[in-house]
Parts: sequence; structure tokens; C-alpha cells
Amino acid sequence: MDSEVPMEKALKERIIRLDGKNTAYLIRVNSTGHLENLYYGKRLRHDATLEPLMQNRSVGLGTSVGYDEQNPLLILDAACLETSTPGKGDFRTPAVVVEYDNGMTTLDFVYNSHRIVKGKPPIKGLLAQSYVEKDEEAVTLQIQLRDKKLPLVLQMYYTMFTDCDVIAKTCILTNGTKESITIRNMASLQLDLPDSNWDVVSFDGAWARERSVNRRRLQAGITEISSTCGVSSAFHNPAIFLERPDCTATKGECYAFNLIYSGNHRQIIEKTPYSMTRFQTGINPQGFSWVLGPGREFTAPEAVMTYSFTGNATASTNMHSFVNNHIVRGAWKYRQRPVLCNNWEATYFNFSEDRIIDLAKSAYDLGVELFVLDDGWFGQRDNDTTSLGDWFVNTKKLPGGLTHLADNIHKIGLLFGIWVEPEMISRLSRLYDRHPDWAIMIPGRKPSVGRNQFILDLTRKEVRDYLVSAMSEVFRLSKADYVKWDMNRVFSDLYSTNGFFMGEFGHRYVQGLYDVMGRLVKEFPNILFEGCASGGNRFDLGILCFMPQIWTSDNSDACCRTSIQGGTSYAYPVSTMGAHVSASPNHQTLRKTDIESRFNVAAFGVLGYEMDLGALNAHEKQIVKGQIEFYKKHRALLQFGRFYRLSEGEDNRVRWVVANTDFSEMLVLDFQILNQSNISQEILRIPFARPEFDYAVETRPQKIPISQFGSLINLISPVQVKADGSLRKIIDKNVMLNSESERRVVSGDVLAYSGIRLSPQYSGTGFSLDTRVLGDFGSRIYHIFRVES
Ligand code: DGJ
Repeated sequence: MDSEVPMEKALKERIIRLDGKNTAYLIRVNSTGHLENLYYGKRLRHDATLEPLMQNRSVGLGTSVGYDEQNPLLILDAACLETSTPGKGDFRTPAVVVEYDNGMTTLDFVYNSHRIVKGKPPIKGLLAQSYVEKDEEAVTLQIQLRDKKLPLVLQMYYTMFTDCDVIAKTCILTNGTKESITIRNMASLQLDLPDSNWDVVSFDGAWARERSVNRRRLQAGITEISSTCGVSSAFHNPAIFLERPDCTATKGECYAFNLIYSGNHRQIIEKTPYSMTRFQTGINPQGFSWVLGPGREFTAPEAVMTYSFTGNATASTNMHSFVNNHIVRGAWKYRQRPVLCNNWEATYFNFSEDRIIDLAKSAYDLGVELFVLDDGWFGQRDNDTTSLGDWFVNTKKLPGGLTHLADNIHKIGLLFGIWVEPEMISRLSRLYDRHPDWAIMIPGRKPSVGRNQFILDLTRKEVRDYLVSAMSEVFRLSKADYVKWDMNRVFSDLYSTNGFFMGEFGHRYVQGLYDVMGRLVKEFPNILFEGCASGGNRFDLGILCFMPQIWTSDNSDACCRTSIQGGTSYAYPVSTMGAHVSASPNHQTLRKTDIESRFNVAAFGVLGYEMDLGALNAHEKQIVKGQIEFYKKHRALLQFGRFYRLSEGEDNRVRWVVANTDFSEMLVLDFQILNQSNISQEILRIPFARPEFDYAVETRPQKIPISQFGSLINLISPVQVKADGSLRKIIDKNVMLNSESERRVVSGDVLAYSGIRLSPQYSGTGFSLDTRVLGDFGSRIYHIFRVES
């Protein structure tokens, strides 16, 4: 029961209300039994007059269709509806499309009953879903609708997670007829808004440039964001923000949505002819159709939404708390993640046991806590044409086997992690020789390839059982503390010998995947799993239900990462984003970036190093050691603090903040994209600072390579230093400058309302110990903490 609204009153007014901490969601059962969205926004008073929120229509609307002869003024096309079907005058995108009889699709769902319960009962039929630990954390509304003519039942579930103002919503359709029906579309969530003054923000890209922020005005017609490649994809993430045009990080209205699903998805944002907005999210109907037999149910994946009246930062932090509290589960929930070293970019496929041990030792000496052995340890895997599926150790590379290696890594003092790509099969593998029919291919057609590999048919139980046992063996033999679960191709040639209707393939695969992941996570509850799909090709809430972190992108270039991690941060918390310091020039962009800046960006993620740490010179080793010490000291704040975007590339800068709950401590990234000459005064302003506090602001001490000054060195050098001479090389290797070190004490009001004037950057007119030398892609981290005045 809703604790604050007496049930009889709510029913009399036919209004159902869900309250969060700061937001409220109101549904009205109108006189014909249709569910209208009365309001979704800032929390209202309980005695608020709700009548002004209702439709006010005394005459018809042009060529529109009235609901029936008794209710000609009920125009479904112009109502804010909680669900929608074709055939009764709503000409917008329908949420539920079911084909029955001779292709008919008309349906008309009306209210039957509802109840509100404390907590969140698990939704039947969903393997990946949100959860609560205690009933106090949420309240769930269950509404049942029935079609007016056919015995079809639509149940809608809304859970308001009161701590973070996030609502999870899903629907279950039950076929009470005696015939099979075919579901052509079933959106998880529909939100109709009464006006259309919105900007649509989506997170799009491709491999190595995932989730960049795209903002555009909502235009007449339909904006569609979707994936058809079988994974949630780097092309278009299922997260969407709707922002008022004047919305900023700290001001203005905004809605945020996401979907707990790892397969094909579709988000529709429709500006209707009556200038309203319809938002829908769910499984992509393209390529999807589901045959629902008599008496059977279909459950749509859960979708989530939040509302903020204080800018998009609040919508993001609501989503972050939701993910940390109600998606990520198990032993690693809120547990600090170890600093890792991964051998991939140091060795690729070319390594031996000795080489791995050397790398691990160097990593340990610098403070790393977990060593991860990436691709190439199994079968005949010397390149990417072979061996996926053959999950036994390659004894040429690792003669002692996995257990021996794991024991040696543990002896060094490190945790041990291993890479697997369970869903895949190479044609050149023993597994393929034994089970060619396990690979997804259409009999009689030449299959398409991706990275020379095929996908296993996880819709088949025997394939899933094999995978669970093969992976369990690997995890046991390797004594794995951590597993990187990779997935390096997308889907083609959809077909299963399983005999179901092929329109069901994509969704059945995702269910199969969740089954395998769920069983393994249950069997190995202490392993830290990191999801990965060619980097961030499957960065979604479905995977995060099983794996608390995901490799954000194969692109670890610090500059690119500011937009990749920045875009990802709209919907996902820092604790979920794997972020590594890699070599320079960067392997994906060939861009040169200084090691401090690479760290500064990676520190706003789950930190790792993916480079040959043994090959660093003494100076660089000292730098990395200092970085890891700094990260460990501030890890709780960096991984689980409140994350805000202050600047996203405007004025050539990216600025992020992580803050603790009372804003008495913050870390700020200040990243400069390109250097400019003769820059005017730069200001560090933190609008989240508490005006009543006093703060110390300190620069994280960094080193500046002398090579950054090029031939200017000759202005101070007693001997001429030639550009390519050996003296130059010796100096570059051995001399580093300390960065400027600012320490200010400032009152919170000044920091929040105006900001600090930073020391000037180098701009060609001189140099002092206070000069900030950033250069292209340079950055600083500022530590801001409360001091007693
Ligand atoms: C793609 C991943 O994103 C990389 O980090 C690496 O693990 C390779 N696969 C290995 O094949």
C-alpha cells in the first residue's frame, strides 16, 4: 500500500501515485478505463489540486478519431497514455502490437485492477532485472489491464526506487485465447509528455569511439535510436536523455532513460502532430516477433527512467546510485576495485610464461594489485584466426599450465585474472570439429564472418551447459580472482536448429547468455567479472546485473577517453568503467600523450595499466608508482563518489568532478584538449562547492618531461643541445620538472559562485615555477577538501 495516500481516496479520484524522494509519478484511470499519465515531475504536495492536470477538451480536434459514440471527445491520439495499441485512433507508434486472426492488430487495453506493494517482488521471466535488498528501498505498483474484446491481459509493473528517484517499468502480456498470437512489438516503457520542447541526447559511436554525446532539437516525426546487431552496441547505447533546451549540468529539466537489456533495442522519441512527445524503449521490433501460445506469457525487459529539475547532473547521479544500489550485486557491490595490469597491449598474442611473470613482477613493484592474462593463452591461439572454444592451456606458451602460473602470480603478491571469450567458436578449433552445428549459421548458406569467428548458439541448452562446465574448469584451474568476459563479433546468419520461430532468435540468445552468466556468477561469487565486447560494444545494464564493471573502450587514448568516459558517465557510474593507462603513441590513434595526463583521465574510472611497465625508465616508474599511490588513497571517492561533468569540451576543456556525499571532499579533472597561445586567465569554478565550507585546493603533483620544451632548452643550457644528439636523449630520459604546485584556501561561496584564478599557463612569454605547462592533451587533478577556518 502507498503509505501516504489513503487507497479509497486514490481510487475515488482514479489516480494512482508513486512518490520518490524528489519526484512523483501520477497515473489516472480515465472514464473509459484507459491509463493516462497525469504527471511525471517534481514531487507535488499531497493536497495538490490535480484537476488542472487533466485533459481539457470541449470540442473535437480536426480529423481526429473519437474513442466511441459515447466518448467522442476522448481522442487517444492526443492523450498522454501509459500504453498504446493500434486501431482505436492513436496514430503514434504503438507500444504493444500483437497480430491475431487474419493479421488483425487492433487492441484496446483498459484498467482491470491494481495494487501497490512495498519493495520489489522479482519479475517473473526476467533473468536480468533490478532488485532491492530491503523492502524500504522501493514501492511497486502492479496494474492489470485487459483487452476489451479478447482475453489478453497486460500487466504493467512500476517500481519507484525511493532513494534515487528512479522508476523501473516492465510489462507482461498473457495470451488467454485458445490460439497462438504473434507479438510484433512490446515496448517496456512508454512515457507520453504533454509538450515537445525537448532536446534529444543520445550516446552513439562505433568501435573505439563509443558513446559520444549527440544533442539535437526534437523535430516533427520520429527520432529512432536502435541496435540491430544483436548486442546493445557501440553504435547506439540504449540510454537516452530528454533535456529542455536550456538544461545544463546544474539547471533545468531533464528525463533520463535506460534499458536493462543486452540485445537489439529501440528507442523512439516522437514529436506528434499535436506537439506532444512520445518516448518508448524496449526490444527492437525490427527482426523480432514472438509466437505466444495459448496460456503463455511474454515479459519485456525492464526499462528505467528518472526526472531531474536541477540539470542533467542530477539525472546522471540518480542513475549512478540506481546502478550501484539496484543493478550491481554480490560480493563486489560497493567494494573497491583493484588496480590491474593487463598484458594485451604489452604483448598481444606473443608471450611466454617468463615474459608474463616479468610483467607481473614489474607491475607489483609499482603498486599494481591484479594481473590479468588476456587473449592467447589457450589452444593454438597465436593470432585471431583460431582456437576459440578450445579452453585448454597452450603448453608451448605456458608449459606449467594455468594453475602453476596462477600460483606464481599469487606468490608475487598479485591477484590473478584471466581473459575468456566464451560465446565464440573458431572454425579452426577442436570444438568446431566436434560440434560444427553449435555455430550460428544457416544450413546451405555461406556464413558471414566477424574477426574470423562465429557465435555459439546459446539458445540451445546443451551448448549453454557445455559453456558453464568449460568455463568453470578454466576458472577453477586458473584460481581466477578476476575474469574478463570478451565478445568480439556481432550477429549475422541468424538460425537455430532448436526449432522455434526465428523471429525469436535474438531475444532467446540474450536469455541464454544471461542464463550462462547467472550460473557462473552464482558458482563463483567472489570472482570480479569485467564485461567486454571489443571494448564497449555491450556496455549496458543487462551485463551489469552480472558483472560489476565493463571495459569501456578498446581506445585508451586519453583525449578520446574524455569523450568516451564522459558520454558513458551520463548513464553509468565511474565504478563500472574500466579505464587503462596505455603506451604513447597510443595504439589506436598514434597520438602522443604524456603519462600523467593518461593517468589523470584513467583515474576517473576503474584504473588499470595496459603497457609494458617493465620497459619504463626509472623516472616513469617513479611517476607510475606515485599515480597508483594517489589512486589507492582516493579510490573510494574516485570509484564511488558522486560524478559530475562540469565541462564537456567547451572552451577546449573537459572538467569532471567526483565528490563525497556532503561535498567536503572533491577531486577535479581539468583536461585541456589543444593548447592555445596567449590564453587569458583561467578559472576553476566548482558550482557544487558548499558555500558555508572553507576549502583547500591543491594540485596533484605531476612531472613534466623536459622534452616538452624542445629547443628552448638551449636558453638555459650551458652547452648547445642538438635536436637528435645523444645529450638530448640523455636529458630527456633523466630530467623531469616538477609541475607547478598550487595550494589555496578558499571559501566555498567564492569557489561556487566565482571560482579560483589559476596560475597562468605557459604562453610563450616566459616561465616560472608557477607556470602551468599543459600543452596539447595536458591535464591536472585538483584535490579540494574542507578545512576548518
Ligand atoms: C578485445 C578487447 O576489447 C581487448 O581488450 C582484448 O581483450 C582483445 N579483444 C583480445 O582479443
